[in-house]
Amino acid sequence: MSTTAPEFRVLALSGSLRADSYNTALLRAAAKLSTGTVRIDLHPGLGELPLYNQDLEAGGLPAAVRELHQRVLRADALLIATPEHNASIPAALKNAIDWMSRMPDGAEIAGKPTAVVGASPGPLGSVRAQLALRQILASVGADVLAKPEVIVFQAHERFDDAGTLTDDYTETLLIELTGALTRRIASRRQ
Ligand SMILES: Cc1cc2nc3c(=O)[nH]c(=O)nc-3n(C[C@H](O)[C@H](O)[C@H](O)COP(=O)(O)O)c2cc1C
Repeated sequence: MSTTAPEFRVLALSGSLRADSYNTALLRAAAKLSTGTVRIDLHPGLGELPLYNQDLEAGGLPAAVRELHQRVLRADALLIATPEHNASIPAALKNAIDWMSRMPDGAEIAGKPTAVVGASPGPLGSVRAQLALRQILASVGADVLAKPEVIVFQAHERFDDAGTLTDDYTETLLIELTGALTRRIASRRQ
């Protein structure tokens, strides 16, 4: 069996805390589809992070925040899936980005190649949340891919009961996105 180390490490963050989340399922599908030199690791859950509070920085960062920072540091790129909550991103995801934007020693997400995806059972497929997320990521200086856009509308029709992606078109988009992300990582290394 080959034990070749992956060349490109991607940290996947889901904005949903729900066990049966379509967004988390989308990230799992991306991880399953990535092969060879790309490895996508799913963060175990942003719900462990305390709400951002500057006082917590002064007193030493909470363990969950330090752990998130370490994961971001080790990753070559980020893949973020956002649900849409009231036409924007969920509070848990905004909270995580606020913590990521405050990493010590200049190791922030600024300049980190980042891809955005999202799913919703509704007809707009999280498009408003994705736009809001892009605006936030631009303000922290992440290097966000413009294309392909992965807007998974009517998500309940694209996953089976076990949360496995069953939609060929979405699968193709995820493969394209992972390819674009790895090309962006490679170009930044030159
Ligand atoms: C508080 C709340 C607000 C929501 N607002 C929207 C919305 O604005 N647009 C939308 O398409 N779906 C909305 N939904 C439905 C979510 O898209 C749906 O619950 C989705 O499954 C959440 O993503 P997840 O499956 O990854 O948890 C909302 C759900 C909740 C709980």
